[in-house]
Amino acid sequence: MVKPSPRQWTPYEQTQLARYGRRPEVIVTADIPVEYVTGIAEFAGRPFLVTPATLIPRIETEQLVELVVNDISSSYPTAERLSIIEVGTGCGAIGVTLSWELRRRGWAHRLVVSDVSTKALAVARLNFGRLAATAPVTFVVSDLLGTIKADLQADVIVANLPYIPTARLASLSSSVTGYEPAQALDGGSDGARLIRRLVAQAPSHLKPKGRVWLEIDHTHRPADLRTNRGDYQLDIFEDSANLPRFARLQPTRPRC
Ligand SMILES: C[S@@+](CC[C@H](N)C(=O)[O-])C[C@H]1O[C@@H](n2cnc3c(N)ncnc32)[C@H](O)[C@@H]1O
Repeated sequence: MVKPSPRQWTPYEQTQLARYGRRPEVIVTADIPVEYVTGIAEFAGRPFLVTPATLIPRIETEQLVELVVNDISSSYPTAERLSIIEVGTGCGAIGVTLSWELRRRGWAHRLVVSDVSTKALAVARLNFGRLAATAPVTFVVSDLLGTIKADLQADVIVANLPYIPTARLASLSSSVTGYEPAQALDGGSDGARLIRRLVAQAPSHLKPKGRVWLEIDHTHRPADLRTNRGDYQLDIFEDSANLPRFARLQPTRPRC
């Protein structure tokens, strides 16, 4: 019988193992992400619990939080009490970080965080308990905005939904497709299936000045994000590699 070769940890992985140890129940196979071995992923300097039910938050998503905070800073006085909905929260990295940043800058706020995965939402709840700023948070299992209270109107809806086109999944590393939840990755044939559904649902959950912030795939063009329901001003923002990776949509027409 051929013995599997021992895992060669990279310097980064060695640091993570030294810092957080490893979950004893995890069998270490060659390409399992170290974050599932330790049960911790760092995001914006904070240690988030992660499990195989949650995506490992990526560094570029920190930029989405930064864009949202800057946008709020230039649009709302701190006297305003903000209402935020995060859709597809996973381990809660966006919601927790946003909450801390808003509090640091003086905005009282409340959050509704949701995910279609009950298991992921349970992890988000733990992370909010361990790490969050003291803002009121409601956790909702929901298919996009489907079970969010009908009368809830937000200043910001933020989401990093699955956006990878289905055909591209096969070309991703097995350390991604073999361990991270497919439900967190697969965005349908062009990657924007869930994004378009959210954009169509959003107007009924936004205040008049409200906006939707999204992480998108670099292949997405404005037309991919549009729906027939209402008009939007759409702005695309680039990541640090100058790829179009984030979108802000603001309804411009009264909604029905
Ligand atoms: C790309 S992951 C992002 C997780 C986390 N927000 C982050 O940035 O690391 C997408 C998340 O959306 C959730 N999701 C997938 N389909 C959904 C749906 N129809 N409604 C709500 N959430 C969904 C997945 O369970 C997953 O947690």
